[in-house]
Amino acid sequence: MGSRLLLLFFLLLFVHASSAQPGFLSLDCGGAVNFTDDLGLSWTSDFNFSYGAVASISVANETRKQYTTVRHFPADSRKYCYRLDVTSRTRYLIRATFLYGNFDSNNVYPKFDISVGPTHWSTIVISDANTIESTELIFLASSSSISVCLSNATTGQPFISTLELRQFNGSVYYTEFENQFYLSLSARINFGADNEASIRYPDDPYDRIWESDSVKKANYLVDVAAGTKKVSTDMPIDVNIDERPPERVMQTAVVGTNGSLTYRLNLDGFPGFGWAVTYFAEIEDLDPEESRKFRLVLPGYPDMSKAVVNIEENAQGKYRLYEPGYTNLSLPFVLSFRFGKTSDSSRGPLVNAMEIHKYLEKNDGTLDGYVISRVILSHSTEDWAQEGGDPCLPVPWSWVQCNSEARPRIVKLSLSSKNLSGNVPSGLTMLTGLVELWLDGNSLTGPIPDFTGCTDLEIIHLENNQLTGELPSSLLNLPNLRELYVQNNLLSGTIPSGLSRKVALNYSGNINLHEGARRGRHIDIIIGSSVGAAVLLITTIVSCLFMHKGKKRHPDQEQLRDSLPVQRLVSSLRNAPGEAAHCFTTFEIEGATKKFEKKIGSGGFGVVYYGKMKDGREIAVKVLTSNSYQGKREFSNEVTLLSRIHHRNLVQFLGFCQEVGKSMLVYEFMHNGTLKEHLYGPLKRGKSINWIKRLEIAEDAAKGIEYLHTGCVPAIIHRDLKSSNILVDKNMRAKVADFGLSKLAVDGASHVSSIVRGTVGYLDPEYYISQQLTDKSDVYSFGVILLELMSGQEAISNESFGVNCRNIVQWAKLHIESGNIQGIIDPSLCGEYDIQSMWKIAEKALTCVQPHGHMRPSISEVLKEIQDAILIEREVTAVREDISDEMSRNSVHSSLNLGSLDLGGAENYLALDESLAQPTAR
Ligand SMILES: *[C@@H]1O[C@H](CO)[C@@H](O)[C@H](O)[C@H]1NC(C)=O
Ligand SMILES: *[C@@H]1O[C@H](CO)[C@@H](O)[C@H](O)[C@H]1NC(C)=O
Ligand SMILES: *[C@@H]1O[C@H](CO)[C@@H](O)[C@H](O)[C@H]1NC(C)=O
Ligand SMILES: *[C@@H]1O[C@H](CO)[C@@H](O)[C@H](O)[C@H]1NC(C)=O
Ligand SMILES: *[C@@H]1O[C@H](CO)[C@@H](O)[C@H](O)[C@H]1NC(C)=O
Ligand SMILES: *[C@@H]1O[C@H](CO)[C@@H](O)[C@H](O)[C@H]1NC(C)=O
Ligand SMILES: *[C@@H]1O[C@H](CO)[C@@H](O)[C@H](O)[C@H]1NC(C)=O
Repeated sequence: MGSRLLLLFFLLLFVHASSAQPGFLSLDCGGAVNFTDDLGLSWTSDFNFSYGAVASISVANETRKQYTTVRHFPADSRKYCYRLDVTSRTRYLIRATFLYGNFDSNNVYPKFDISVGPTHWSTIVISDANTIESTELIFLASSSSISVCLSNATTGQPFISTLELRQFNGSVYYTEFENQFYLSLSARINFGADNEASIRYPDDPYDRIWESDSVKKANYLVDVAAGTKKVSTDMPIDVNIDERPPERVMQTAVVGTNGSLTYRLNLDGFPGFGWAVTYFAEIEDLDPEESRKFRLVLPGYPDMSKAVVNIEENAQGKYRLYEPGYTNLSLPFVLSFRFGKTSDSSRGPLVNAMEIHKYLEKNDGTLDGYVISRVILSHSTEDWAQEGGDPCLPVPWSWVQCNSEARPRIVKLSLSSKNLSGNVPSGLTMLTGLVELWLDGNSLTGPIPDFTGCTDLEIIHLENNQLTGELPSSLLNLPNLRELYVQNNLLSGTIPSGLSRKVALNYSGNINLHEGARRGRHIDIIIGSSVGAAVLLITTIVSCLFMHKGKKRHPDQEQLRDSLPVQRLVSSLRNAPGEAAHCFTTFEIEGATKKFEKKIGSGGFGVVYYGKMKDGREIAVKVLTSNSYQGKREFSNEVTLLSRIHHRNLVQFLGFCQEVGKSMLVYEFMHNGTLKEHLYGPLKRGKSINWIKRLEIAEDAAKGIEYLHTGCVPAIIHRDLKSSNILVDKNMRAKVADFGLSKLAVDGASHVSSIVRGTVGYLDPEYYISQQLTDKSDVYSFGVILLELMSGQEAISNESFGVNCRNIVQWAKLHIESGNIQGIIDPSLCGEYDIQSMWKIAEKALTCVQPHGHMRPSISEVLKEIQDAILIEREVTAVREDISDEMSRNSVHSSLNLGSLDLGGAENYLALDESLAQPTAR
């Protein structure tokens, strides 16, 4: 068949359900035309699918048109994906079938993998050219499309014959695990069938395939007990709702006339946890004095044999369905079971049908999925943007490399010479695991964005584009950068000082880009005087940077990183003035702040003033109240340490200024004030920040804290986290302020380091009692901030929390533990949030404020939870936007609320004595 034709249309096939059967999609892979089969199913050709080739096959006795063609794919390292449209929060059955038919005339039986999104679904092993292999899943759609991908050809070429999608109504196949697990079909048996034909559409309105128990297969329904007899009826069967087994399936059964029904069968996919249901209906005529009572006997499961089935009684009548089952049970690969009659029963057991599914755990996919999907959105017609599925799993896109973590990060992007135009996609700066970026040989314009967040970046190739603007000094913030190629662009200005010493830099062919002059002299002097201190600090600082990187290190990158020698870092500390604490003169500060004219805040450590430097840079100057920094040297050592702590979620420390009796710290100015002001301060009046924004702020803050806790040795404990210490910048991204100061203040002020510091309402009760400070004290405070984000309430209030309750922790615990989360949600969110993401945060916040530190999670665990909540919220927001035309917001919400009100383990939380939470520490 003319396979090359296909390459004419480089358009991904977005397949919609056909209208003939609502909620059905039947894709005839490799077929050329649409048609309706004998069953009345409408088949759609995948003619417009952009990858692979088609082939015709001919198999004896297989006349169904959909099995006369296949689509096959190269046996390479890529994946090939179909993307199917679905309705979010709806259950579906998806079935893929494969009839090899020697399509490649090679007689090599193919073996390859099929995946749903990032989840490995099944390994397809062909063992006979004329036998149809089939695999089936039931899933709850969590977004508006699903990708089915073929990959990893071990032998032969991957191929596919059909792909069928069937939408369920109502709640059948609901399981409490459906958000984390798919149901993968192992057996769906119609007992007592009169022939080998299976029963499906139109008898089954959902087109499930009920296999006849007369079909002979190896190790499938063998060891049948003697005396097993088929029975059937023409009477209608009451199956209640039409989602249950079709009547035709229930009208036949097997009976163990000699007292037992026994079967043995291999269960594909098992051992594992599964879902199993048996369908019974009494279809024989029993005399009034007769009875049919029996038990299930499963070797190794004595408990199951306790229940006695009496179909007629259980179903409350004859010809009515009774369907006992187990929603989570551990099953072996080889299952033997027996139904045995009880001693007082006159008739043997009877069974009509049975279904067994295995729980298949969903893979959450790469953490960069959302970001990268935004990046490719603007290039959706390009071939490289259409590979489909997860960017990293089960195998990465051809232009992407990922690390091997459970939730991988993208580490390399290779988009050289892909005809990209426009700006460098800003989303790329959010790929925080990126090590190599190749964008050379495109037509990119505009400035080089700020890659500060991609702290692992080592190699950047931007050459041969039309980029303009300066080389950003933020490139100096990339500790691992060693190769920067920007030649043949239109860049201008001066090269940030120190950059060419630090990295291999090629900037030729940028006519207006020059090497800059050295910096001012006074900085060198400061460095000179604190060189001793700096050398002492080097060990600490070096381990700070390397510890942090080491955590994310991927084996493949080991070698690359080792080429950044410690030696170079040390020498750059000595030589590069830009990296030491900058000393501002009093004159500069007075000029910038117009003699401390504008006060913008005050906190435990001093008053903060607004300033603007001569070069236009806006600053915040904190005048410390503590006068006790005796030695100038001591102070400058401490601030030198401060100036080493760089993270994009920590407010940037720019330098210090010290004169007799007055110490000042200079920070970047944050335009949008504190989180506190946004939640219940003056800034709230305009427009309250929405839930997703709040989650993003929480994520930012958690990242900053995570860096303090895990990125530095020794770890830095903030000690005074609160919503007024979380600042918001121009772009509404958050940064943590006042880190490292507690240490500074306490150690500098006296040698009594056991003074409890912190703010009422945020203070870890355990720390208050034991005076033992750990990182878990910060986690406690962060938990309080999460509660503030949810509720828009202050941590301590005399009015808001009702009688006898002054603090948010007690109040929120009471509500959350009783399942009444709505009772604490900030009304100004106007219901615009997904209840699942809210629950995630509520539960995590409660664990953060556990009375004992060892019961609290680490900040990294909290961060992960916030990120999960963000993913949920983004997905739901996207869906909400998609369907908001058709439905009102309220109805969307109520449908999303289904089944998510599960507060796992909340009853374990210990009560917190209120008196503990109210110390007046300062
Ligand atoms: C086949 O059906 C699909 C979906 O119903 C439609 O988009 C496509 O144009 C049809 N193709 C032909 C050749 O009729
Ligand atoms: C394939 O797409 C083209 C236009 O993109 C359309 O004209 C044609 O009908 C499609 N063919 C099938 C079989 O869907
Ligand atoms: C095909 O069908 C014919 C007649 O129905 C039968 O004799 C033959 O054995 C079948 N062949 C296969 C391969 O099933
Ligand atoms: C590819 O298949 C082989 C054999 O089935 C398996 O061992 C390997 O893990 C698979 N690779 C991936 C990336 O799934
Ligand atoms: C599912 O529900 C929809 C709408 O209520 C209805 O149109 C459709 O026929 C139902 N499908 C089945 C198979 O019951
Ligand atoms: C029925 O069971 C009895 C005892 O369990 C056995 O002796 C007899 O052979 C069985 N009958 C048949 C037909 O298998
Ligand atoms: C089923 O039960 C087991 C053990 O009781 C549990 O570990 C598992 O999470 C449950 N659910 C699934 C889907 O396996």
